[in-house]
Amino acid sequence: MALLDRAIARVLPAVPKPVVRRLAAPYIAGPSLEDAVSIVRRLNGERKLATVDVLGEEVTSTAAASEIAQAYHRVLARIEGEKLDSNISVKLTGLGLDLDYGFCRANLEALVEDARVRSNFVRIDMEDSTTTEMTLRLYRELYAGGRENLGVVLQARLRRTLVNAVGLANVRLCKGIYIEPASIAFQDPEEIRENFRAALRVLLDQGSYVGIATHDEALIVDALAQVRERGLSPDRYEFQMLLGVRPSRGDALVRDGHRLRVYVPFGTHWYEYSMRRLQENPTIAGYVAADTVRRVVRR
Ligand code: FDA
Repeated sequence: MALLDRAIARVLPAVPKPVVRRLAAPYIAGPSLEDAVSIVRRLNGERKLATVDVLGEEVTSTAAASEIAQAYHRVLARIEGEKLDSNISVKLTGLGLDLDYGFCRANLEALVEDARVRSNFVRIDMEDSTTTEMTLRLYRELYAGGRENLGVVLQARLRRTLVNAVGLANVRLCKGIYIEPASIAFQDPEEIRENFRAALRVLLDQGSYVGIATHDEALIVDALAQVRERGLSPDRYEFQMLLGVRPSRGDALVRDGHRLRVYVPFGTHWYEYSMRRLQENPTIAGYVAADTVRRVVRR
């Protein structure tokens, strides 16, 4: 990321919320389930799969967590009712992980059961490193209890990832968005890439189903080589991308016969997710500057 972009990323929290909202609009389906459904329908029409995320994390009350859980049940029902090709992605802090492990587990298990009877699947997103251990524990407990329509996420940024990869059946592999200390996480982008490549090798070699979640061309090229070397058929892995990021690269993957799943967030709690996406956008300085100029000119 260029120096100016990095500086802008640091001052992003000072950018007015309406501006953040406008800049982040391409990354979010909209405030309602209806918005998510229409985006998923469009993606399916382009032969892309989806995973729907109800925005909301780090809730501070059981009522808020239950609300998010109920929203996910409605998503599962709509996916089935509309025959959409989509699963769901959940954040455990949205289901109450910070409040009570058992309460969060019950929320998650109810969702996994609902998904099972509808022949669907639940992906547990990975949040910051304070949640890694509990997230993997919860995944392993449920999987060992026969919950096989469930997958988890590993972050190549974390040093522990190669060890954690061993034995996991269904994994989304990504770089990891959360800033973590050097004691537990690689800081150098090339080291993060190398760990991504190594984790992908471990996962594919042990027969895991992998969601290869990256827009980084070097990693996409490496992943294509890895699946080719192993002669894997396209139903043994999938590429994953975020809504609004490199859609034409996604089109090309689909044209070449690969499965591509797009992460579709919706809801009214858009701020935290939007900030993370904007901080990663390599051209954010230009966007913020252009928006500022537009507002000044309008005055
Ligand atoms: P990188 O950030 O280097 O981006 C590569 C290129 O993609 C950039 O050069 C640019 O062209 C483009 N790009 C990337 N982000 C952009 C943006 N916001 N706007 C415009 N262009 C952009 N993380 C996590 O910690 N836990 C999780 O559960 C998930 N889940 C998840 C699901 C899916 C489907 C994806 C694709 C990603 C995640 N992530 C995640 C986020 C992930 O960890 C990572 O932060 C982002 O994918 C960005 O990393 P890349 O590998 O794409 O590389």
